[in-house]
Amino acid sequence: MTATVTSTSAQPARAGITFPDGFVWGAATASYQIEGAAREDGRGPSIWDTFSRTPGKVFAGHTGDVACDHYHRYAEDVALMAELGLASYRYSVSWSRIRPDGTGPVNTRGLDFYDRLTDELLGKGIDPVVTLYHWDLPQTLEDQGGWPARSTAEAFAEYAEVVYRRLGDRVATWTTLNEPWCSAYLGYGSGIHAPGVQNPVSAFRAVHHLLLGHGLAARALRAAGAKSVSITLNPCEVSPLDPANTADQAAARLIDGVANRIFYDPLLLGRYPADVLEHIARFTDLDYIRDGDLEVVNAPIDVLGINFYTPAYVSAQPGRPGALDYPGSEGVAFRPPVGPVTDMNWQIEPASLTRLLTRIHRDYPGTPMMITENGAAYPGGTADQPRIDYVDGHLRACHDALAAGVDLRGYFLWSLMDNFEWAEGYAKRFGIVHVDYTTQQRVLKDSAKWYREVIRRNGLE
Ligand code: FCB
Repeated sequence: MTATVTSTSAQPARAGITFPDGFVWGAATASYQIEGAAREDGRGPSIWDTFSRTPGKVFAGHTGDVACDHYHRYAEDVALMAELGLASYRYSVSWSRIRPDGTGPVNTRGLDFYDRLTDELLGKGIDPVVTLYHWDLPQTLEDQGGWPARSTAEAFAEYAEVVYRRLGDRVATWTTLNEPWCSAYLGYGSGIHAPGVQNPVSAFRAVHHLLLGHGLAARALRAAGAKSVSITLNPCEVSPLDPANTADQAAARLIDGVANRIFYDPLLLGRYPADVLEHIARFTDLDYIRDGDLEVVNAPIDVLGINFYTPAYVSAQPGRPGALDYPGSEGVAFRPPVGPVTDMNWQIEPASLTRLLTRIHRDYPGTPMMITENGAAYPGGTADQPRIDYVDGHLRACHDALAAGVDLRGYFLWSLMDNFEWAEGYAKRFGIVHVDYTTQQRVLKDSAKWYREVIRRNGLE
């Protein structure tokens, strides 16, 4: 189960670095991963409730029913954040707490929870960054077609406005979606995430309706007065295994299209790339992309959120079957991780984050960015030097990107505390705070104490 854990601490000592004044230091979580209280105060079921109860989908049958019990312990958790000196906290709102069936009556008790959480944060001087959708679609909406259906995008914008009307007087930064790549391709392509569908046509339609949902929500938020609107992507930093090999280059270009440019170009340029449209057209007609949609998707954003964990290397391998989460990737081979990996078996290569950020800066100039997630899973207790090394390396990579002219505004560590890691259940621990799931006791790991010093110093030693 558990992959090799390798520390990078043997590296030579490096020079101290300082981040720009005002660089935002934060930590992130997501509703289904930490809240628990799955049936409380009028919350309706989401696709993750259904999926986690479906035998064989989540490690050892784990569910988010209790998770970190953050719904009840939020004040204690905010106190921990204050102890760490976080300037900002990125949390997500559970749609099915706010509108239990996705579109119907608003459940004020759900809004009350985020109201209390927001006030608790502000009371401790911590700036909330709200993500409106971190994968927990109300089950009723999935039953009506889910993200492959256009109506879900419309419902999302309505829900976004409901939340804004309650919290907008105190929350400045509004992120519409977290990682639409995962929602579309893991949810409807490979089916390893909820709702567990395996259908490339559904996956491509989901991509478009997620983008449209973002655009409609961005418009609604802005009209209601939102000052800062964003979306968080998880780009695949993909390179040809042999940079000089034209077939490998074409393989990398294909993956870059299906995973990255399919999001970047509509969001930032207001169009789909021609090669990507051709690619999708191999699976489905394109009539679900309606006139005017891309103008909506191209709504101005104030910052682009980037979640980053690991790079990818691909080569051409004729005859190889495609990966379901990259529909149409027949003939492309992903290289297994090389060198040090985390407990997710994700290769550790900080320089790949610098490449990713500088590429966006080069190809989409003038895009302000924020690292909205970065971190590592390691097993065990509070002695977690490998996590410190991972974050240290990636912060240096961010600093290199800043030096190269990238407009990078901040860094949110994933995650504040150990939590429900989706299909991996509680088996993978990403927290800088250790959670004992039997007692719900929280204990700072070494990485949390180290991060506190990074924040205090606004840099690394
Ligand atoms: C990201 C998710 C986040 C967490 C990390 C490890 O893809 O946004 O919820 O699971 O990976």
